[in-house]
Amino acid sequence: MATGDLEAGQLLCESMVNPVGIDMLAPRFSWQLKSERRGGLQAAYRIMVADSEENLLRCTDLCWDSGKVQSDESVFCTYEGEPLTSRKRYYWRVKVWDQTEAESDWSTVAYWEMGLLQREDWKALWIEPKQEPVAEDPILSLREALQCDNPTDTSVLHPCPYLRKTFSASSAVRKARLYATAHGVYVFEINGQKAGNQELAPEFTSYDRYLQYQTYDVTDLVKNGENAIGAILADGWYAGRIGLAGNSCQYGDKLGLLFQLELEYEDRTQEIIVSDQQVKCSTGHLIYSDIFIGEKVDARLIKDGWTLPDYDDSAWDPVSAAHFDMSGLVAHYGEPVRVVETLPAVRVITTPKGETVIDFGQVIAGRVSMRVEGPAGTEITLEHSEVLDEHGNFLNNIKGRHKDQKDIYILRGGEPETFEPLFTFHGFRYVKVSGYPGVVLPERFTAAVLSSDMRYTGSFECSDARINRLQMNIMWSQKTNMLSIPMDCPQRERAGWTGDIQVFAPTSAFNMDVLAFLTRWLRNLALEQLPNGEVPNGVPYHKSFIHIDHTLMGKDSSAGWGDAVIIVPWALYEAYGDVKVLEEFYEPMVKWIDYVRRTAENEMPDNFDQMDDVQKERQKYLWNTGYHFGDWLMPSASSPQDSAIKTKEPVATSFYAYSAALLSKIADVLGKHSDAEYYSDLNRRIRKAFSEQYLQYDGTLSAHFQGAYVLALQFDLVPEEARGKVAEQLARLIEENGCRLDTGFVSVPFLLDVLCKYGKRDLAYKLLFQTECPSWLYEVERGATTIWEAWDAIKPDGTVSSMSFNHYAFGCVGDWLYREVAGLRKEQAGYKKIRIQPDVECGLSHASAKYESRYGTIVSGWSKQGRRITVTAIIPPNTTGTVILPNAMHENVKESEMPLNEALGILSYRQTNSGVSVHLGSGSYRFTYDLA
Ligand code: BGC
Repeated sequence: MATGDLEAGQLLCESMVNPVGIDMLAPRFSWQLKSERRGGLQAAYRIMVADSEENLLRCTDLCWDSGKVQSDESVFCTYEGEPLTSRKRYYWRVKVWDQTEAESDWSTVAYWEMGLLQREDWKALWIEPKQEPVAEDPILSLREALQCDNPTDTSVLHPCPYLRKTFSASSAVRKARLYATAHGVYVFEINGQKAGNQELAPEFTSYDRYLQYQTYDVTDLVKNGENAIGAILADGWYAGRIGLAGNSCQYGDKLGLLFQLELEYEDRTQEIIVSDQQVKCSTGHLIYSDIFIGEKVDARLIKDGWTLPDYDDSAWDPVSAAHFDMSGLVAHYGEPVRVVETLPAVRVITTPKGETVIDFGQVIAGRVSMRVEGPAGTEITLEHSEVLDEHGNFLNNIKGRHKDQKDIYILRGGEPETFEPLFTFHGFRYVKVSGYPGVVLPERFTAAVLSSDMRYTGSFECSDARINRLQMNIMWSQKTNMLSIPMDCPQRERAGWTGDIQVFAPTSAFNMDVLAFLTRWLRNLALEQLPNGEVPNGVPYHKSFIHIDHTLMGKDSSAGWGDAVIIVPWALYEAYGDVKVLEEFYEPMVKWIDYVRRTAENEMPDNFDQMDDVQKERQKYLWNTGYHFGDWLMPSASSPQDSAIKTKEPVATSFYAYSAALLSKIADVLGKHSDAEYYSDLNRRIRKAFSEQYLQYDGTLSAHFQGAYVLALQFDLVPEEARGKVAEQLARLIEENGCRLDTGFVSVPFLLDVLCKYGKRDLAYKLLFQTECPSWLYEVERGATTIWEAWDAIKPDGTVSSMSFNHYAFGCVGDWLYREVAGLRKEQAGYKKIRIQPDVECGLSHASAKYESRYGTIVSGWSKQGRRITVTAIIPPNTTGTVILPNAMHENVKESEMPLNEALGILSYRQTNSGVSVHLGSGSYRFTYDLA
């Protein structure tokens, strides 16, 4: 019998709310307990699954009834019922008991739906419309590609193919599903209406090994009687001009389509409409469309009603059937790309050069929607950029081949018309408009923000508006670079650089629920791992990416980049407590460490022959050969290559040690204890070799750079007794640099933590509050709305560089803001045990963070007024927390006006030298005290 206020809600299946078209055979369920009382813990649960809602509610013909399971687990509970079937929708609900045996009602009903699980489920044929193959661009060297700054000759681009097929539905349809994918990108319409609301499907994956199909519920679009289904295709990432060098045809030179529309009539009979040779094709108003170059539309060529059944397609061409291996076909996993926000134009500027430029006030990834009225044939050009130059003129600062970011719209004339490109996106804040008939009014333009539509889970706020803007900038860089894959930037490369995401993963997991998104990307990474264990620098690792890496570095991976195979799953495990993500990628992790170990053991530095035996022996544990990106973009280096060369040696060995240590922990989590011992021993040897090779008596490292010290301290690479001296060296370097950082990509995530850990908290805050270049607030004070690729992307003298203005890597400080400034931490992976430890004496007067963990909302907030401290803590049901009240005396602390020993929900408390530590159960708490 249900009692009390206990509830189970927020039901997730495989991290998603009611997913449609998944292919996991044992999906996992998560829910949250809701309880008004403090200290609520789950003692048991019961899950029920049925293939209809009625059966579920009546508890008959169940596919699974877990029975009452005595367990406090409310996340990642695995389905163990009867085998799941293609296409079927399953309904589930859960009820819980707490530790007092109070029982909740059944939760509301949630569902998930299976996609097509067997190869035989696919009756459709791959089809290819009549088309000119996409012209393959000549391979350029990296230098040539970057220097090539000519506008693209768009006459070589092809019109987008249109495909259509008619069908009749013989009676009322109760359920219709469209399963579809493409070579290229696609959009579907049925009877004149778009199917679904996702963009750029099938999205960017390692197509030759992993191609997603999407499932659309199109029940409302199909009608009894005559129908038509149509699709438009574009080059996309498959055949378009992508990556740093802007090469076309990375996966193929012909566009293709595969679709299957399945109808179920009211009488339960079924019909399938598939892609086959009855599909017809043509072209239309999309003159070309390329992800990087842009899109050209001639609205005079719109084929009105082309996806209506009575449209005359007698002049359309037949398509040809094609045969492709379907073994890499998988159901789409994770939230799709959507328009997640629409921004108004903030102002229209006339630049000193006389250009008309719209300012959207925010750097984004997306596209413009424009309303216009004018004579037929009028040609309007929209060019996109993230910055203006130092004089306020429009500047396309991104150099390289095919980086045009230019859309063209030719008016149909007469009625008011709207243009928004379909198959491209740009990184921009400013849009230069040319050829617009009449006055460019801001209200006629909006910007559509594109992103993988993940749930926001975190927010951070404090008393310094500049830090709040920094947090917003981090969010924006995440939102606009997590677009199908974790990209480095949304304009120049748009590539899944492994180093960038390993640096940013912990921050990203605070801001959004990235579990499915990054797991999908990791699956691609695992598929792209080389047989020798190398993990490519970027995923998807397409032909021109490979070519550049081979010519630049003679291999496919770099220290600090390939380590993403270990660091990213670990970050996901830490944030969500998902053990399966560790299990799934354990083998690729082992292969990676094995590759690094073999390289370290077999490749010796040039001066090896001059070494004595002891030195020679040590070399086996140093990863000191080959090209690496090092502490990429270290500010004091004269160029990115210079920072790579100067720092690569300590960085490579540091990451070797770090990855070995993480792998040892991972092996322990997975119960592989002898593996854990092996990697821990390996880590010990690497650390020993590191300090013997690089550490001097006075605590200096031979690579005398901030980043090298940060990594050595963070990864415990120097013996305990030397750590103080090493930390002093780091502090001295920072002070000598005017209290400004000089850290690159891979060390900056740990910089402030290391300073705090070694008693240099003041210095950490000096760096955080620093406004001179290089620093986080320098960018903010220069008007940044996203995180820049380089600290000085705009130089102190105002010069605008050709760096990207939207790279999330240096936004990794966000993780520290949540943990250290607001004090929202975990004591156990996934936040089953929480630690609230605010830094009330950091110079701010208040800070607070909120995080939607899998268990529910966690809040850590504090404020300081004179000596009076208030700490608010929200601990979700089914978790426990420890709140650290800095510099408090227990007898002076009140919780919601009650003395500590009388407050409800408090399990125990303890006076320590540094304050009071309170152990508590779930609930919302408010502590007040005066600083001792
Ligand atoms: C990218 C980076 C990437 C790096 C490799 C750059 O061009 O934009 O973010 O990690 O190359 O060093």
